[in-house]
Amino acid sequence: MNAILNIARFNYQRIVRPLLFGMDAEDAHHLAMALLAKISRMPTFLKAIRSQLSAQSPAELFGLTFANPVGLAAGFDKNALALPAWAALGFGFVEIGTITAQGQPGNPRPRLFRYPGAKAVINRMGFNNDGADAIAARLENWRKLGLWPAVPVGINIGKSKVTPLENAVEDYLYSFERLRRFAGYFVLNVSSPNTPGLRQLQERDALDSLLAAVQAKNHETAPKPVLLKIAPDLSWEQIEEILALVSDHKLAGIIATNTTLDHSSIEQWGDQQGGLSGAPLNDRSTEIVEFIARRSGIPVIAAGGIMDPASARDKFNAGAKLIQLYTGYIYHGPTLPADIVRSL
Ligand code: FNR
Repeated sequence: MNAILNIARFNYQRIVRPLLFGMDAEDAHHLAMALLAKISRMPTFLKAIRSQLSAQSPAELFGLTFANPVGLAAGFDKNALALPAWAALGFGFVEIGTITAQGQPGNPRPRLFRYPGAKAVINRMGFNNDGADAIAARLENWRKLGLWPAVPVGINIGKSKVTPLENAVEDYLYSFERLRRFAGYFVLNVSSPNTPGLRQLQERDALDSLLAAVQAKNHETAPKPVLLKIAPDLSWEQIEEILALVSDHKLAGIIATNTTLDHSSIEQWGDQQGGLSGAPLNDRSTEIVEFIARRSGIPVIAAGGIMDPASARDKFNAGAKLIQLYTGYIYHGPTLPADIVRSL
């Protein structure tokens, strides 16, 4: 089994990654997603992949059973195009989105940049996604086809760009209502740096209103676990304030963290506007996970700079209950979930 993982890791890092890195970063992403979307409709093939890459290490959290504690982070499969593939690739859960009430194209390209010397990425995608209605129809179709994954599916929602900040709550509520029957859990994303004004929803009064409205709607029928995803650029005082609101409104947990606007670690490689992810984010996001775990009993899902089994262990040691991968998956390749789970 390990021999196959070793061959797959070697092939990705020596052959596939150089080919993908020779292309524009977003084109490479679309190519990989197109392949995964195809595979998603081939159950026999999925089964063959699963037999090599799946790793069981069940974890229980907020009433859900996770096949293992390693998930796919939001943004990779925003539109749920390859929903059935992720569990076969060894992820213990998958988070789709960010989804907004209205479909939108996102920012002009180019908007995704690799920094291989730093094992980092900068993106300013701007919530390009098909919108809540279209994605609800796609999710329904995965169910009808009998291809719904056997792992929890998180649904990450955000604000449409055209919706003014003062109407943000209605935008979130629309997506919440439209998608609730598909969600294992929900994530309120108030921390993307690429939608103007979005991070202002992390401020006390705005966040209080958002959490109150979502939880009121959530408790109208069988409630779902609702989590909040925060930025790594908050001060300790701001995080304390957020922890108090998360407790008051009885959220299920926090995802720490989104990408950072602190680009000081990659200055030598030139710069682009957007959120920085990958290795340079690791220490800051670990520090935030540790702060939250120490100060509160709120469960934390950690994201940020998990590039290999060692950085995954750091997040669990800091108190994370589950972890999520994005940039590490690009650099390390498809054996990363299995490599992490088997090292735990
Ligand atoms: C992201 N991330 C992200 N997060 C989110 O909540 N909604 C989103 O739509 C996106 N989109 C997105 C696109 C791209 C290209 C990247 C690189 C990242 C953030 C992601 O989920 C994660 O929180 C951070 O990237 C930190 O983890 P890594 O990448 O350092 O493992």
